[in-house]
Order: sequence, then structure tokens, then C-alpha cells
Amino acid sequence: MATGVSTKGTKKTPVLQVRVTYDGKTSEAEVLGAPYAEFQTMKTMNSGGKNTLFYGDNFDALLYMLNNGYKGKITLIYIDPPFSTAANFVNRDQSHAYSDALRGAEYVEYLRKRLIVMRELLSDNGSIYLHLDGNMAFTMKLIMDEIFGERNCRAFITRKKCSTKNYTKNTYGNISDYIMFYTKGSSYVWNRPFSPWGYDKMIEQYPYVDEKTGRRYKKVPIHAPGTRNGETGKEWRGKMPPKGKHWQYTPEKLDEMDAAGEIYWSPTGNPRRMVFCDPAKGIPVQDIWLDYRDSINQAQKTTGYPTEKNFDMLKLIVEASSNPGDMVLDCFAGSGTTLGAAFETGRNWIGVDNSPESIKAIFKRFVTGMEAYGDYVSSHSGVQMSIDIAPKVPFSVQVCDEYKQSYQDMELPTISSTM
Ligand SMILES: C[S@@+](CC[C@H](N)C(=O)[O-])C[C@H]1O[C@@H](n2cnc3c(N)ncnc32)[C@H](O)[C@@H]1O
Repeated sequence: MATGVSTKGTKKTPVLQVRVTYDGKTSEAEVLGAPYAEFQTMKTMNSGGKNTLFYGDNFDALLYMLNNGYKGKITLIYIDPPFSTAANFVNRDQSHAYSDALRGAEYVEYLRKRLIVMRELLSDNGSIYLHLDGNMAFTMKLIMDEIFGERNCRAFITRKKCSTKNYTKNTYGNISDYIMFYTKGSSYVWNRPFSPWGYDKMIEQYPYVDEKTGRRYKKVPIHAPGTRNGETGKEWRGKMPPKGKHWQYTPEKLDEMDAAGEIYWSPTGNPRRMVFCDPAKGIPVQDIWLDYRDSINQAQKTTGYPTEKNFDMLKLIVEASSNPGDMVLDCFAGSGTTLGAAFETGRNWIGVDNSPESIKAIFKRFVTGMEAYGDYVSSHSGVQMSIDIAPKVPFSVQVCDEYKQSYQDMELPTISSTM
């Protein structure tokens, strides 16, 4: 793998920012000053707590929040909006859940307006994850750079979303989607995630065993690209760094590392650094996610909502970018996967959706419980479902005027009188 030579310290020319232009692009001031609908509390489940479910258009809900005490209060936002697929999505029982009809600039502006308000809701140490597929991810990356700053893009994650597609004949099977991770600023909540070591992986990545300690290790170079005039460009133990390179550490530090048994000397006298495996810690999670496909096995639970995302993936994101007690927002909540992950890990949540099927799915998740994936078809008959998450989840439901009638007409899953 080639590593570039850092240009740190060399004279920089200013970077010209790329801007996306299209008809109908409104100014940020217009977006933030737009009129919005009010919301009212319609139900309080188990004393409410800080968890809130908004039923209505999320542009209204976001502006309502911004003007009602939530500015700068959200630590983590994850959104999985419609992907601009020009499709309708139906539940597993075939009822209509939502439409994904917006295309081109209309789609970009719809999402951009909401992202501008989300930035205002984020705390200074907050993060936002935007989940999209190849339709719009690359256009929206430019918009995210405009809103949050290119320097605040921390990762562009590729996720394997489903199993291999053997029926795709004329091109490569499409099994990936993308998650952009941005922060509000340079200092942000980050609990680095690790996945457990498998024995084979550990042997593959740390192939050597230190005879003295029995610990597994790998050998890595102790030089880096680029020449230096200081200490790290000089001779150490009678050896100069290879041509065009410098030592990664000062000779003094290299002596210390050697004394601590952290330098491997090859039979020809070449030094390399020994990096030891810490089996308890696991493998740091990288930016290709292969283990978080959506509803893949019979052991998982589902609400039956279309496009329901992998619960473990959301738990990973929530735990990496927030702490217990923090507020997590998903304003394209769908079946409430993010809200469930936030609840299970001790965070507070705010969900927003404008689909009645989404609101029903979220009640299913928090009130009556979900079904095992494999059982869904046979047991979907209104019979009491298995409880997946403790039913005593406290939350309140806020509904905007325009949606009140639809809320009242909704048959919400319930197991007790929890008004
Ligand atoms: C892809 S789904 C989210 C699925 C969710 N991540 C899950 O795990 O279940 C997108 C959701 O956004 C909602 N949505 C789309 N436009 C909206 C809007 N303007 N206001 C509120 N919700 C909206 C849809 O109703 C749908 O539930």
C-alpha cells in the first residue's frame, strides 16, 4: 500500500470550495426563518420522560423543535431518508407505508432544508449520520460538505446491505449502501467501536508469537515517507532511514522501544516495530461494514415496516457517537430502529415521521413488542406478539394540527391503558 508524503509545513494555496447550484435553492436564512406548524401532546405513555415521538412533516417538527428549546441539545442524529428510488413502499401486510417520489434537484432541496435545521439542533460536540444509496449519496456528500464543512466529514462508510444477488445479469450485483458521518465541530463524542476478534482473523493479522511473553504480534515499518533534516532524518544504530524516508520516532524514543522489547531485528539487521495484539479490546471497526445486513436471519425481530434497518448497526452508531443520557434524534424514524437502539443503550430519543404505518410500527416496537422475523407471516393476526423491548418505555406523542384527525383514526397497538 502506497502512503503519500505529507505536505504539512509547506506553503498552502487557498482551497476553493465546490458549491452545488440548482433552480430553487433557498438561502439558509430563508430555511431557518420559514413558517412551521405547531405540535401538541396527544398521548403520554408511562409518564413520558424525555422521549418524544412527533407525528407530522419533519420540516415542521425540526423547526418547531428549534424554536422550542432543542437548539444545540441533540448529541446524535441518524437519518435514513427516502433514497430517491421513485418507488412506493408497503408493509409486510401490504399496507402502504410511504412514497419515495422526489427526484433530482427537488429531492436535494427537500433534504438540504432539513439538514440545515438539523445542524442547528446539534450540540457543539454532536454528530450526524446520513444513510443513502448510490442514487443520491454522491450528490448529497457535496451538500453535506456545504452545510457541515468538508473538514467535519469523519467517514464515508460502505455497508453491505443484503446477500449476494446472483440474478443480476448485465452488471455487478448491487449490495452496498453508504453512511456519511459528519460532526458539528472538531471536538465530538467518540467512543471508538471494536468488533470481537475471531481466532482465524487474529492469526492472520498478528502472525508472530513473541518467545519471551507469548503475545501475538505483527511487524510494521518504523520509517515513513518523506525526508527530514532533524533527528528523525539521521542515523540510528549505524543505519540511515531508507532513501526518501525518515524514522517515525527520534533515536531516543527508538532506543526506549528497543529496550522495552518492541523492536524486531531481522537476520540482516533491519529494525521493525512489533505491534502486539490486545485480544480483550477487539478489532477497531473500519469503514466497510459487512456484518450489518437488514433482517437477515430468523433470530431477528421485526416490526414488519419496509426498509427497517439493522438494529445492531444502529446500536454501534449510537454507542460510538453518544453517551448514556444524551439525546438522539431520528427524524425519518420509520419503524424506530434508532429509537430502540437509543433506548436499549440508555440514551433519550426523539423520533419524527409522517406515515401512520411508521407510528404504528413504533408503538409495536415500544408497546406491544415485535415478532421473530420468521414467524411474521404465520402469526400476523392481531394476536399478542412476543415482547422484544420492555413495554414500559416512557414516551409522549406530539401531533401537528394537520395530522390530528389521521392520528385519531389510527388503530394503535396497545396492551394496557397507558394514557
Ligand atoms: C427509509 S424509511 C426509515 C426506516 C428506518 N430507518 C427504520 O429502520 O425503520 C424513511 C422514513 O422517512 C419517512 N419520511 C419521509 N419523508 C418524511 C417527511 N417529510 N417527514 C417525516 N417523515 C418522513 C417515511 O415515512 C419513512 O418512514
